[in-house]
Amino acid sequence: MLIAPSLLSCDFSQFGKEIERMDLAGADYMHLDVMDGHFVPNITFGAPIMKYVRDFSDKVFDVHLMISDPLKYADDFCDAGADIITFHVECDSDIDKTIDKIISRGVKAGLVIKPNTPASAVFPYLDRISMVLVMTVEPGFGGQSFMADMLPKVREIKAEIEKRNLDVIIEADGGIGLSNIKDCAEAGVDVAVAGTSVFKAPDPKKAIEEMKKACE
Ligand code: DX5
Ligand code: ZN
Repeated sequence: MLIAPSLLSCDFSQFGKEIERMDLAGADYMHLDVMDGHFVPNITFGAPIMKYVRDFSDKVFDVHLMISDPLKYADDFCDAGADIITFHVECDSDIDKTIDKIISRGVKAGLVIKPNTPASAVFPYLDRISMVLVMTVEPGFGGQSFMADMLPKVREIKAEIEKRNLDVIIEADGGIGLSNIKDCAEAGVDVAVAGTSVFKAPDPKKAIEEMKKACE
């Protein structure tokens, strides 16, 4: 299991240092939650801020766009140094054009689905994307409770990926910690996003180690 700490729970006055701290703690990916106050009822940061912190780690920058028009801003996040850009299948942009734009910039593209969106919503795009992100909370805020009823959806997507023999990984996001990460792994999750459970832990390095170990 790869662990992607969600920087949404970090001390933003030390954004760069927090990324460095997560790198040293053993994070595999840096999960950056971008919210526009329109697609979700919260606002975080955009590409200019991301550009400032990019150099604080060489790890994969996994950018989760919770914005209404990802096509409009895709170039900005590619320029800012994203390695993977995921955007919501429920957004207002043309999905095919947005995938094409991201891939044309040499960045990996992924699709995200909210809890009420069925697995089948991403099936038409699976052969062109690198990741499916399954939300295990309603997007917008950190610190919510894990929705275990999303795990059958993970299994369904995993089965489709395997059936079609595709190279697509599954990420899960929201409420993940030591108590449920093994269930995620068993359902087929490859990358677990963890905000609260890493940042509120007395020792983030230990928290990451324990979560990885629980999945072995
Ligand atoms: C929620 C974000 C998540 C969230 C995870 O909209 O996409 O990445 O910050 O935080 P926790 O682990 O606290 O649920
Ligand atoms: Zn996220």
